[in-house]
Amino acid sequence: MAGSTFGKAFSITTWGESHGAGVGVVVDGCPAGLEINAEEIQSELNRRKTGQSQMTTPRQEKDLIQIMSGVFEGKTTGTPISMLVYNEDADSSKYDEIKDKFRPGHADFSYLAKYGVRDHRGGGRSSARETVGRVAAGAIARKLLAHYGVKVVAYTKELGGIVAQKIDFDEIERNLVRCPDPDVAPQMVEIVLQAKKELDSLGGVAEVVAIGVPPGLGEPVFDKLDAEIAKAMLSIPAIKGIEFGAGFALARMHGSQSNDPFINVGGKIGTIENKAGGILGGISTGEDILVRLAVKPTSSIARQQNTVNTEGEATTIEVRGRHDPTIIVRAIPVIEAMLCLTLADHLMRQRLARLEFN
Ligand SMILES: Cc1cc2nc3c(=O)[nH]c(=O)nc-3n(C[C@H](O)[C@H](O)[C@H](O)COP(=O)(O)O)c2cc1C
Repeated sequence: MAGSTFGKAFSITTWGESHGAGVGVVVDGCPAGLEINAEEIQSELNRRKTGQSQMTTPRQEKDLIQIMSGVFEGKTTGTPISMLVYNEDADSSKYDEIKDKFRPGHADFSYLAKYGVRDHRGGGRSSARETVGRVAAGAIARKLLAHYGVKVVAYTKELGGIVAQKIDFDEIERNLVRCPDPDVAPQMVEIVLQAKKELDSLGGVAEVVAIGVPPGLGEPVFDKLDAEIAKAMLSIPAIKGIEFGAGFALARMHGSQSNDPFINVGGKIGTIENKAGGILGGISTGEDILVRLAVKPTSSIARQQNTVNTEGEATTIEVRGRHDPTIIVRAIPVIEAMLCLTLADHLMRQRLARLEFN
């Protein structure tokens, strides 16, 4: 019933809160024999880490991963892989003054409405600290995908109204503003720092692409690949919208414009364009899977805002904890992790779909 598990054949269960003892994940269903080591997982976590630049929260977490089970002599054993990271730089005192107030745009009110109790320290389970477990598990999923020739990459498409245009996957570097157009990235940094100076925050659009996905992934009807990707992405805190391929632009086209004509290139069937975003009927076509996401601005801002307290009395709030002036920069590795996890799950499920398989 409770909602901390994602995936059926390759599944993850995350646990932990922002200011609890630590956060972690249990990965179940990873086939035995996959080569993986702590350094590979650590390098993914380092991309998600806080305190790396002025564009991210100054909270300094080392995020050192400990693999507790499921890996022996550098290879998965087929048993549950449990991983944990201790919380070391949780400063709960900054949250004392807003303990009885609801932060606008955050989950304080809705968590209290649901559970009747709320861990106000850093947002508890609603905090993106939970995504540490997803990124650690995503590193394993990424290795599994690589075994099948699948690659996943996400980047900042738009930030503060500035749009990145050029897309050359080989050129996209693993830098802090992972942006396809290097000329545009510094402008994005500038606009975020300006928002921070004004005690405000910024949202953006992220794009994530999976290359090399074989045709046939996805389970009609309720576990269609696009439905599963949408669930994965919308489960990431602050992701508020999703489009596949041409997305909402399809709504303004004629059928003759929106269809991707099929072609046969050397015996391989494909499409000339990819307005479908690599999925038809909930099943991958073999074209790149292309997803765009709306990331909302960070709700915790130092600027004074109107709100109410737990008694329902009008008051004001200035959120002084350590927060990201934009979420998108740190969301990029989480977005990649969730696409890797969804595709890994469906690759494993595809092995059950036919009488004959290879
Ligand atoms: C990587 C990442 C970092 C985030 N950092 C912050 C933050 O510093 N401050 C904040 O208020 N929200 C942050 N968020 C977003 C909140 O967790 C989220 O807005 C909140 O839980 C409410 O959920 P919702 O926006 O999905 O409705 C972050 C989200 C992600 C994915």
